[in-house]
Amino acid sequence: MSEKKFNTQSAEETEKLGEMLASYLKEGMTLAFYGNLGAGKTTLIRGICKGMGIAHGVKSPSFVIVIPYKGGRLPVYHIDAYRLDSHEDLVALGPEDFFTADGVALVEWAERVEPVLPPDSVVIKMRAIADEPDSRAIIIDPLPEEW
Ligand SMILES: Nc1ncnc2c1ncn2[C@@H]1O[C@H](COP(=O)(O)OP(=O)(O)OP(=O)(O)O)[C@@H](O)[C@H]1O
Ligand SMILES: [Mg+2]
Repeated sequence: MSEKKFNTQSAEETEKLGEMLASYLKEGMTLAFYGNLGAGKTTLIRGICKGMGIAHGVKSPSFVIVIPYKGGRLPVYHIDAYRLDSHEDLVALGPEDFFTADGVALVEWAERVEPVLPPDSVVIKMRAIADEPDSRAIIIDPLPEEW
């Protein structure tokens, strides 16, 4: 299976990429985001939500782990696992409510909850580039066949 690499030069460009990726999202999909603090996970998710037609302002969920966004093409569940000590904490929240057949789950800090992620999650890795403060490398690996 192939992978796909993107390079963005600004937060706006990352958002635009997210808008484009939104068109590939289907019911039941989970996107697992990896990348350090400030890598741009929330920025990319903001673009995806915009592309899904969600009007809600998308921020890193600070005090809750999961935010549902309704009113778009599909229900979206924005999960930020940063503050979880283990995947067990996510299990306690009832992940069947957001890894649903009819919605899309977008998971920041996916490494913290790997045991609960659906095995067919689309992995998106993001990282900053040394000496280029506004550049980000974004890798989708493996790239789903229909993307
Ligand atoms: N090319 C770029 N793509 C995305 N963000 C960028 C880019 N260049 C600069 N930035 C800046 O980097 C920051 C990314 O923050 P963002 O909240 O999206 O990261 P995050 O990966 O969600 O971090 P956290 O782990 O804290 O949730 C923003 O301040 C954004 O403006
Ligand atoms: Mg974030």
